[in-house]
Amino acid sequence: MCSTDLDVVNEIVRTRGHTADHAIPILQEVQKRFRYVPREAIVRIASITEMTESQLYGVATFYSQFRLEPVGDTIIKVCHGTACHVGGAKGLTEALEHKLRVKSGETTSDRKFTLTSVACVGCCSLAPVLMVADGNTYGRLDRKKAVNIVESLEGVSGAEPK
Ligand code: FES
Repeated sequence: MCSTDLDVVNEIVRTRGHTADHAIPILQEVQKRFRYVPREAIVRIASITEMTESQLYGVATFYSQFRLEPVGDTIIKVCHGTACHVGGAKGLTEALEHKLRVKSGETTSDRKFTLTSVACVGCCSLAPVLMVADGNTYGRLDRKKAVNIVESLEGVSGAEPK
């Protein structure tokens, strides 16, 4: 992070507030800006507010909405709710892990994709389902269709699904 980025953090704190009850909105705004909550941002917030780094990390790790690691340009969310689990979500995740050469929860080395698992996304009749962070939802998938979706997103090439 450069000093310009940290200036943004200053501005977020200035508009949101300096006390502990503002921790969540501050961290939300930081994550919106950087797509995750960088360690440097937490250090800066602690230096200019009444909150300590440990308090801020406590909030950031308690709420699952916060990410402490950078994410890829595109987040692929494979639904592992009950209907999708029964419909083969495990196989979709395995195929995408193989294709992207990451484990679920990880980001590709080129930072293009983050693969993750989520609970029911509310379209069980289309199970198994995956969502892309741009808001598109794809349903009635199998391993090959899931890999084809990823390939269509960015021309990813690599190994075929297992
Ligand atoms: S379980 Fe996957 S959409 Fe409901």
